[in-house]
Amino acid sequence: MVLNTNANDSRTPCVIVGAGGHGRVVLDILLSARRYRPVGFLDSNPALHGRRMDGLPILGDLGVLTSLRAQGIVSAVIAIGDNGTRRGFADEVEAADFELINAIHPSANLAHNVTLGRNIVIAAGALACAHCQIGDSVILNTGCIVDHETMVGTAAHVCPGARIAGRVTIEAGAFVGIGATVLQCLRIGYDAIVGGGAVVTRDVDPMTTVAGVPARPIKSAPDTDEFTAMLVPASLEHLGAGRSPS
Ligand SMILES: CC(C)(COP(=O)(O)OP(=O)(O)OC[C@H]1O[C@@H](n2cnc3c(N)ncnc32)[C@H](O)[C@@H]1OP(=O)(O)O)[C@@H](O)C(=O)NCCC(=O)NCCS
Repeated sequence: MVLNTNANDSRTPCVIVGAGGHGRVVLDILLSARRYRPVGFLDSNPALHGRRMDGLPILGDLGVLTSLRAQGIVSAVIAIGDNGTRRGFADEVEAADFELINAIHPSANLAHNVTLGRNIVIAAGALACAHCQIGDSVILNTGCIVDHETMVGTAAHVCPGARIAGRVTIEAGAFVGIGATVLQCLRIGYDAIVGGGAVVTRDVDPMTTVAGVPARPIKSAPDTDEFTAMLVPASLEHLGAGRSPS
């Protein structure tokens, strides 16, 4: 695979990892922002390889990174909606010595003192106010509002139209659903899920799903046994792996 490189184009070439709906959004952001020049998508689904999406080729899976590197393409952004998968792919792409870039739509509005990690997607119309801290692999989706001094942890996702008040902490991997509201100074625990349209008035425990107005837990974090079972492949269970002796 040899990509057509244009020596007159001053934009930095990059690849988008993830050829799904979020990949399409990220492509649009990069084209609007004009700082990077997307050359194609990577995706782990072999059925997509060799096809095109929105005018760009789907080049293969992460195995293609070496060949891209040889052609001078060393920038990537992970465009995968699932928080855990996005974080894992970011680690793999970084291990292949690629720079993880931020895709920020020109209509997003960030206060001058917002701090940003890497591999962040900030979609059209999103707002992040004074002193917000936005961690690696975060998505601030279309039209969301993140008010002052809020911290959004690694690989969290603030969905379209969600409104986060000031001094909120959204821990790593948490998901704040479409149109949800989180009141000031609250903490959304790691890997927690806030349902679409919820109004969160109390802290949310890690790995817990809340929904409704006011938001109430509809799924709690797994208990210790359930959690261990999630970590231990079924094929190892007969060895007692991961379980404490009873
Ligand atoms: C909260 C959510 C994660 C729950 O999904 P789930 O675990 O599959 O739960 P279920 O669909 O089985 O629903 C369980 C119960 O909660 C209710 N419920 C689900 N989502 C709800 C919501 N957002 N608000 C209020 N109630 C909700 C269901 O009606 C159901 O109630 P019942 O038991 O009385 O029938 C999901 O419904 C949701 O809101 N996802 C957000 C999607 C989103 O933001 N997408 C944007 C992506 S960019």
